[in-house]
Amino acid sequence: MCGIVGYIGSQREIKGFLIDGLRELEYRGYDSAGIAILQGSQLQICKAVGKLENLEKKCSSLVVHGFGVGIGHTRWATHGKPTELNAHPHMGEFSYVVHNGIIENFKELKEELDPSKFVSQTDTEVIVHLFERELERTSDPFQAFERTVSKLRGSFAILLITKAAPDTIFFGKESSPLIIGRDGEEIFFASSDAPLIGNAQEVYYLEDGEYGYAQKGSIRLFRGGEERVPTFQPLTLNKELAQKGGYRFFMEKEIYEQSDVIGETLMGRVKENRVEFEELDSRFFQGIESIRICACGTSYHAGLTGSYLMERLAQIPTTCEIASEFRYKEPLLRPDTLFIVISQSGETADTLEALKMAKKAGLRTLAICNVDNSSIVRLADATVLTRAGIEKGVASTKAFTTQVAVLWMLALYLGQGRLDQETLLREIDALLHLPGALKVRGELHERLKRLSKRYLHGHGFFFIGRDIFYPLALEGALKLKEISYLHAEGYPAGEMKHGPIALADPELFTIALMPRNLLYEKIKSNVEELSARDATICAISSIPFELADDFVKIEKQKHAMLEYFEMAVVLQLLAMEIAIRLGNDVDMPRNLAKSVTVE
Ligand code: M6R
Repeated sequence: MCGIVGYIGSQREIKGFLIDGLRELEYRGYDSAGIAILQGSQLQICKAVGKLENLEKKCSSLVVHGFGVGIGHTRWATHGKPTELNAHPHMGEFSYVVHNGIIENFKELKEELDPSKFVSQTDTEVIVHLFERELERTSDPFQAFERTVSKLRGSFAILLITKAAPDTIFFGKESSPLIIGRDGEEIFFASSDAPLIGNAQEVYYLEDGEYGYAQKGSIRLFRGGEERVPTFQPLTLNKELAQKGGYRFFMEKEIYEQSDVIGETLMGRVKENRVEFEELDSRFFQGIESIRICACGTSYHAGLTGSYLMERLAQIPTTCEIASEFRYKEPLLRPDTLFIVISQSGETADTLEALKMAKKAGLRTLAICNVDNSSIVRLADATVLTRAGIEKGVASTKAFTTQVAVLWMLALYLGQGRLDQETLLREIDALLHLPGALKVRGELHERLKRLSKRYLHGHGFFFIGRDIFYPLALEGALKLKEISYLHAEGYPAGEMKHGPIALADPELFTIALMPRNLLYEKIKSNVEELSARDATICAISSIPFELADDFVKIEKQKHAMLEYFEMAVVLQLLAMEIAIRLGNDVDMPRNLAKSVTVE
């Protein structure tokens, strides 16, 4: 998804800062990039299609010393193809803009403007022409910007620079994240924390509807015409955490990290004989009769797992829905329903909109999220953070396992009044064994590396499981398809004979999740049916399975959830090793973005 950076100052080389900043945002996915730097009346602009290396090459002759203002952007195409003309910054006659989000009324606005001025197919370009038209009318750059922003509908994070005010960056935000950072007189902008780490000392997360302008050492912030004072907070994140640390890919690092970060997720929450959430007030849950969970992608798979756990442990009727479906189905929402949204980024447009709908209908809302201060966290009534740390790989790994852990704890938290003591203690004991279950064992990784070479062809994969292992099968299939580009489907094992078994042949690879602690005999007979039809079976279990063509042995766990987490690691590693063998960039798979901030 698109990324934004900006800088005002003289302490550092602006071009270097902008490109380094964009590199920090690469993981979000993009297909073109550009920067613009203004020093007095001198403008330098550079854009390129494809990777940042192309941009770097194109602007290698561009040297900037001394004070200047600069903006940069990585674009993930929505309106118009990924071409240089469509890349940001977009130019007017003397002004330049970068934008994340979508201007929904760009066609109407364009009709008011001179069509001969437009060179791109984007919605963004309308902003810069509108600004220049307003400037002709008011001759005050800030007023012109204020009027421009007030006419825009949709979602946007905008930085605009202009020769009419060459020492200034104008900014505006609506439903798309934008952060201002500062260190003394230097001012930074970015659409997420990563480019600011190690640069800005303190940050301000803009709120929807806020806009203003920044000049060397000063920031003026407004909303609805009223000036406001931004409350900056220290930026305490550590750069180390955002780097690869010796692993081949961020995804690999993040898979290995799970065993440690899960400790953070559990910390202070799992007590000797109960689960507590400091951030939640138990009165918040009073009178709750049902739960609706809403999310997208991997977070949806975590949510679906959570729906089984809620019903089983908390004994509260629970459903889980895909946010993009929920939004338009005209859902019946009852005020005694707890609405839970799950999101790694906290910026996913569909999930955010579903949350807005639930709030509007008067439901109590709870976010399970990895990014504090994200749009979803700011909007929800209550939040439980997953504490997974920055996740850079586009394919979600540690965000998923920490989400499931939070849902498991939440189910126990809501159920602990009803559950008998023995069950509760057994669950707590299992929770405390989570770091062990998530630890990547060297020999297991080696086995999966070797195994991966047998799964590079075929006409498709079926990942099958039952109960909570069904959502895990969905997640295993999603992981594989998003980074290997092979076709994969997750399926409830008991449902195979109702149709998909017709596909069974030796070129159909079945990854069977066979936990010893949950419905083992049932899944075993489902796998036997497939084996009898000559499907190629890769079984993941702690119990050897003689009909398997390949067998991945997990530890003999005493709780199904521990098997679940260990198998999650197996599926992540298997997908990664297959994708690596196929020569793919697993951190930045084609066509995907880390944070999907458009519908
Ligand atoms: O940030 P979110 O958790 O809201 O993102 C939801 C999905 O876009 C995300 O999980 C996506 O499916 C990942 N690429 C999965 O690996």
